[in-house]
Amino acid sequence: MTGTDVKTILHKDIVKFIRECLKKDHPDSYLIAVLHKVQGRYGWLSEPHMAEVAQLLQVPTATVSGVATFYHFFRLRPRGRFAISVCLGTACFVRGADEIVEAFRSELGIGMGETTQDGLFSLETSRCLGVCALAPVVMINEKVYSKVTAKQVPELIRQMQEG
Ligand code: FES
Repeated sequence: MTGTDVKTILHKDIVKFIRECLKKDHPDSYLIAVLHKVQGRYGWLSEPHMAEVAQLLQVPTATVSGVATFYHFFRLRPRGRFAISVCLGTACFVRGADEIVEAFRSELGIGMGETTQDGLFSLETSRCLGVCALAPVVMINEKVYSKVTAKQVPELIRQMQEG
């Protein structure tokens, strides 16, 4: 087997992008861009994918996992069946979005970017969703919930569990 026909588990477009990065100065500076592409395609960053990024981009595996864990927008576990995203834009924040985040965290027992063990819920935050008049806003999968309060969180979770 030659160097060009090595089997990769990453999609060929990502491999191609990494190879283009290698031709530039400081290829390692493209690590975040590469990880965004991986997450964009697979929805999260698995260990095997990160290991392959490290190998192809010629950076230590520890660097890749360090970057992936440092930035909260990278997911290290697959999203749950219900992907909960609390808007932390200014309008939502001043109307109590942080209390909503806290309520989800304590009800679900997970932190930001994490997924419950049963794979049902994942929790993340987002920037302004462009519907500030409805603040504070929570997006669950594709559905927007407006004027959410922390008190409503247990009921929202119950509805999802039953749905
Ligand atoms: S700040 Fe939350 S929708 Fe704009």
